[in-house]
Amino acid sequence: MDSCSKYMVTGGAGFIGSHLVDALLAEGKEVVVLDNLATGRMSNLVRAQEHPRFRFVHGSVLDALLVDELARECDTVVHLAAAVGVKLIVEQPLKSFITNIRGTETVLESAQRYGLRVLVASTSEIYGKNSSGQLSETSDRILGSPSVVRWSYSTAKAVDEILTGLYHRERGLKATIVRFFNTVGPRQSPAYGMVIPRFARQAVRGEPLTVHAAGRQRRCFLHVADAVEALLLLLEQPGADGETFNIGSSEEISVRELGERVIAQAGSASSLEYVPYAEAYGAGFEDMQRRVPDTTKLRALTGWQPKHDLTDVLTDAIADARGEVSRLASTSLPGGRAERLPAATASIVKTALAGPCQS
Ligand SMILES: NC(=O)c1ccc[n+]([C@@H]2O[C@H](COP(=O)([O-])OP(=O)(O)OC[C@H]3O[C@@H](n4cnc5c(N)ncnc54)[C@H](O)[C@@H]3O)[C@@H](O)[C@H]2O)c1
Repeated sequence: MDSCSKYMVTGGAGFIGSHLVDALLAEGKEVVVLDNLATGRMSNLVRAQEHPRFRFVHGSVLDALLVDELARECDTVVHLAAAVGVKLIVEQPLKSFITNIRGTETVLESAQRYGLRVLVASTSEIYGKNSSGQLSETSDRILGSPSVVRWSYSTAKAVDEILTGLYHRERGLKATIVRFFNTVGPRQSPAYGMVIPRFARQAVRGEPLTVHAAGRQRRCFLHVADAVEALLLLLEQPGADGETFNIGSSEEISVRELGERVIAQAGSASSLEYVPYAEAYGAGFEDMQRRVPDTTKLRALTGWQPKHDLTDVLTDAIADARGEVSRLASTSLPGGRAERLPAATASIVKTALAGPCQS
């Protein structure tokens, strides 16, 4: 990978995106972030904003002209922008569905026009209710009825994958798909249904940790630093072109045990409180019992392996929660120095990427 490459990171003010941006800048790349701050935060980019090789553009991946303009000046696009989180999807299903399909199509179209290499973020939700042990990239999708809102996210991401594959096969787009399983770490918002940031905040505040159903669901949680490492390795690998990769941890735990681990690790006096799915997400909500990735393909191509275990993941999530809780206690303003530009201003941003390429 050329050290002077210019990267567009859509959704770069979000959780995974902002960590990727920091890593790319540290590697000497130029980075432009396109984000509408729907769930992202400028506070995630505090470090990046000081960098001469960084530029932030406030706007939407649904704005085809803006995406096109930015794509023209880049070599690679990492497409992370999406409506994310079970809670958000359930609360805003139509907006989420449109963002997740149309946004990806817009990015792929511009990437193909200018010959960019593309990495598209997909999700373990692709596998739906398939709970049959380790899931490999070719495992079946098992979905409930389309009328169950949760599956609209899975379906939108599946359409994104199909579009990406077809652009690759029929139009020669250099594209890789990554399916993130539960990814956790600093900067992850608890607001949209992510279990570890929510548990960490509840434990730090001494509130009950709300466990959905009986908490027997089993999940694996990967530290965001390991997820970003996987992305960097794949971006360097010509062999990743046209391929799909799971990215996740294989350290499995039930949600009930996870709650107990968070309480113990935080030294909290909290207890577990069991909440039926219907109360948390409305009637008819469906979940899967088990979700464990098979990452053999990623390991074989890149040699990747996670450097952090669940204890590290929880240590960082609890520290992040403590920081946020004490910041909120000392000020009535929400965290983050949001610097929201009107969309109209963003859509006419024409400045070329500034700053020298320092490797
Ligand atoms: N975090 C996980 O565990 C996980 C799991 C599976 C898949 N993913 C995927 O990884 C990607 C990043 O997720 P994340 O966890 O960092 O979530 P996030 O919500 O922190 O990041 C998504 C970013 O996209 C931005 N965005 C939303 N709509 C946009 C639009 N129309 N135009 C421009 N920006 C827009 C948001 O403001 C946010 O910054 C997503 O594509 C998500 O589907 C994440």
